[in-house]
Formats: sequence, structure tokens, C-alpha cells
Amino acid sequence: MSRRIYIFDTTLRDGEQSPGFSMTPEEKLQVARQLARLGVDVIEAGFPASSPGDFASVQQIAREVDGPVIAGLARCNRADIEAAARALKDARRPRIHTFIATSPIHMEKKLRMKPEEVVQRVREMVAYAASFGMEVEFSAEDATRSDWRFLAQVFTVAARAGARILNAPDTVGYTTPKEIYDLFRYLKEHVDAPDGVIFSTHNHNDLGLAVANTLAAIEAGAEQVEGTINGIGERAGNVALEEVVMAIRTRHDRYPFHTGIRTTEIYRTSKLVQTVTGVSVQPNKAIVGANAFAHESGIHQDGVLKDRSTYEIMRPEDVGVPESTLVLGKHSGRHALRRRLEELGYHLSEEEIDRAFARFKELADRKKYITDHDLEAIVGEEQQKTGEALKLESFQVVSGTQTLPTATARVVLASGEVRQEAASGDGPVDALYRAIDRAAGFQGRLLQYELKAVTEGQDALGEVTVRVMSEGRVALGRGVSTDVIEASARAYVAALSKLMSGRGIPVQPGADEVPAEGWMQRAWGD
Ligand code: KIV
Ligand code: ZN
Repeated sequence: MSRRIYIFDTTLRDGEQSPGFSMTPEEKLQVARQLARLGVDVIEAGFPASSPGDFASVQQIAREVDGPVIAGLARCNRADIEAAARALKDARRPRIHTFIATSPIHMEKKLRMKPEEVVQRVREMVAYAASFGMEVEFSAEDATRSDWRFLAQVFTVAARAGARILNAPDTVGYTTPKEIYDLFRYLKEHVDAPDGVIFSTHNHNDLGLAVANTLAAIEAGAEQVEGTINGIGERAGNVALEEVVMAIRTRHDRYPFHTGIRTTEIYRTSKLVQTVTGVSVQPNKAIVGANAFAHESGIHQDGVLKDRSTYEIMRPEDVGVPESTLVLGKHSGRHALRRRLEELGYHLSEEEIDRAFARFKELADRKKYITDHDLEAIVGEEQQKTGEALKLESFQVVSGTQTLPTATARVVLASGEVRQEAASGDGPVDALYRAIDRAAGFQGRLLQYELKAVTEGQDALGEVTVRVMSEGRVALGRGVSTDVIEASARAYVAALSKLMSGRGIPVQPGADEVPAEGWMQRAWGD
């Protein structure tokens, strides 16, 4: 009989906590909603004690996202556990996920605790977490470098104190498939846990073994898999959930398991995470990369034309890859656009549809064929615009080999005031960004600029992603246009607008630098 594997998504916690993957609270909510559509069993929404922003974000997701269990991370201390319990209070199905390290190196060098102190802490803190009446998961950080007998002892204590899920993370991506298989067999045999307790696997990808290790752990009896979309996360990342899910589904003969994932939502979820983080996956990335289903060589194309299964082990439609064909044209109306967006799985408000339609019409005037990929890019740009503090009205750029690049930008402020300024710069984009800064009366520092083509051909849409910093906050902006200078301007204005309305992400200390007592205790004095 096929065994059910529970999917625990930590894109918003382990994924988001790594540098360069930050998301705004609205973006986190958007991702959480999409994860619910994807059918994950658990969403780890954040680490509430790490910052007021994380607390608020976990709280919002707990209140607004239905379906999956909502988990919040907490170290094994009272302040963290209280913060998690408060943030999760309104979730229908809350879970406190508490952890402490169990490897000799972590206990001695990081925690400066003796093994018996760790055991005592686990006993007390798991019981404390359970006292909130919420489901409790316990993780033994750096489990794969821990002494197995000690690990089994810690898990037994945690399970008896009330943890229902026991997670053995490969925190530093060090283990191997055979080793983790043996470890899970050992734990299944030696942990003396009440009925109903399940084991979970959580693998980092430092040696590129995360998927193989996860599958081995499942074969040995793990029932929950923790990972992220696109494999984002600390260092080389976490296991990519889409790869594990599709491996199980495609090789059901070897992996007689099933998940609750709607695989047709995989591509859309991956795209959303790429859009909101501004980090694209490499073209050859398994399952969701641009080339994952492309057959370039003559021999392969010939085979696929004769019978798809010659070279295709999965169909693009199984993971929701849209067909890159002509879908809409100049004369298509709002209704047709809405229907196509719905078919593509976008759930937009009336206001977002209006804005997407205006952009679609503009684009249709310049570009003959509008494909699904073009629509995705337009929606990606429009979805970032809520409460705009700055709008681009027009711009002009003069540039050439013998001229000093100069630009004029005309913008509209939130007050309705229209302002125009000119500037020169090192190149056309630099000049334009300086002119926008002047017109907006606000200075941004460009940290990152990326340009890519959305589709092929001469009239392809260019998509620009920028990361801009001002006053200790960073914001991401995206812009699309057939004109790359215009796409650059749109992206910069979107980022500046977020910063001007206080929606930038604070440049925070990492989770390890969070004060031991947590910010909440100090802020609330309890
Ligand atoms: O990698 C790890 O050990 C973790 C734990 C906090 C679960 O992310
Ligand atoms: Zn991790």
C-alpha cells in the first residue's frame, strides 16, 4: 500500500532567512496562499521571535491562510516559544516547531551546554510548547552529525514531553543516502515514542545530495519531508520540494508513496517564488528550469515527435508549464484576458485585472503575439504595485557613442504632484535613475540590476529586476517592456515606490544573531 508523505514547506523560513531571498509581508502572504493551492501539508511561515516583522508576518499568514498547518519556528527557550504561540494563536491548525542542536560540536562550541543539559532543556521546553495546546514538532539541529544513541535519547524525551513530529535535519548537508537511510532505520527502532509520532527529514544541499538523501530517508520510514520551492535556502539551499514530489510520482515503481501535492501548481509556485525573491532558477534546473522540457538535439526531437515517451519521463503539463503559444492578440478583450489568466491559475482582484488589461493593451500595440509567458511577466509586474508612492509618467533618454548620456523623467507622487527633472550619468540607465531620484526627491542606491528576455524573437519582452537600498531598507522592483530602457525605468520606480512607502525590507541580522532573550521580552517587558 502506498504510504502518504507529508510535505512541510519552509520557503518562508529556511528559504527566506538566507541572504538575497528576503520578501515583504505582502509577498510572503502571496506565496503562502499559493503554497496552500499547491497542497502542501505544512507552511512554516517564519521565526516569530527573530523580529517584529517576522512575528507580524507569521500572525497574518496564521489568520488568513486556510488549509495547511501553519508552523512557527522557536528555539528551545520560553521567549521564543511564547512568541511562536502568540503569532500562531489565530491559526486553525497551528504548530510550534522548536529546535536545539544535538551534535557534539554544536553543543560544545555554540550552545556551551553539556549533553545532559540539552536533554533537560528539551524535556522542559517541549512540554512548555505543548502547554499552549498546539501541535509540537521538535528538531534536533545537526542531527546527522550527532551521536545516534544520544539522538535517540533526545527524541524519546521530546516525544514523551509532547512532540508529535521528530525532525532529524542534515543541517550542514553532510550526510549521504546510505548513511541517512541507516540513521532513520536506527531511529525508528530505538526511539521509544508514543503511537502517532512521526519522523521527518530536512536536508540541506551542500554536497548536492539533498534529494537523494531525502528519498533515502523516506525509504527508511520518514513520513514528513521538509524543503523549499526551487531549493532556496542557506548556503547551497534546502532540498527542492518539487524535485522530491516529482521523483516520487514519476518513479512510483521504486517509491511506493504519494503526497497531497497538486503537481499542476508546481510551475506557478516556482515562478512566484522567483518573481518575489528576484532570484531566477538556472535554465537546466530539474522540473522548473526553462530547459527542463526542451529537446534541442535532432535525435531527441525526432524521437519526441515519434513518441513523447522516448525522451520525456514527465509531461510539461503535469507540473503546469504553460504552452508558449499565441494566446491573445490586439483585439482580445478584458473578458478573454481574465479567462486566460484564470486558466493560468492567477487569482487577481478586479483592480489587478484592470491594471493587467491596460498593460496588455499597451503591449499588444507593440508586439504582435502575446504568449502565456508575456502574460506571466505583466502580472508579475502589476502584482507588486499596492499603495504606490511613485508612478512613472514619461521619460526621455539621449545616449550614443559621442554623447554624454542624459535623461529626463516625469513622475507622479502619492500627493498627485507631477515633477520633472533631468540628469546625466555613466550610461542611459544610470542617467535615467538619477533623473528619477531627483524628480522623486528620494535617493536610492542600486545594489543589483538584472535583465532577461521573457520570450524569444526580436519583439521579445525584456524583464528587468533591480534591488535598491535606502536608509537601511532594501526593495526589489520588476519592470517589463519591449523596450529595455523602459523596463529599467519601471523596475526602478517600483522599487523606489516601495521604499518611499516604507515597504522595503530592513537589512536585518541573521537568525543566529537574534538576541538570546528575543526582542519580544524586551519590547513587552514580560
Ligand atoms: O537546518 C536546520 O537544522 C534547520 C532547523 C532549525 C530545523 O533549519
Ligand atoms: Zn534548515
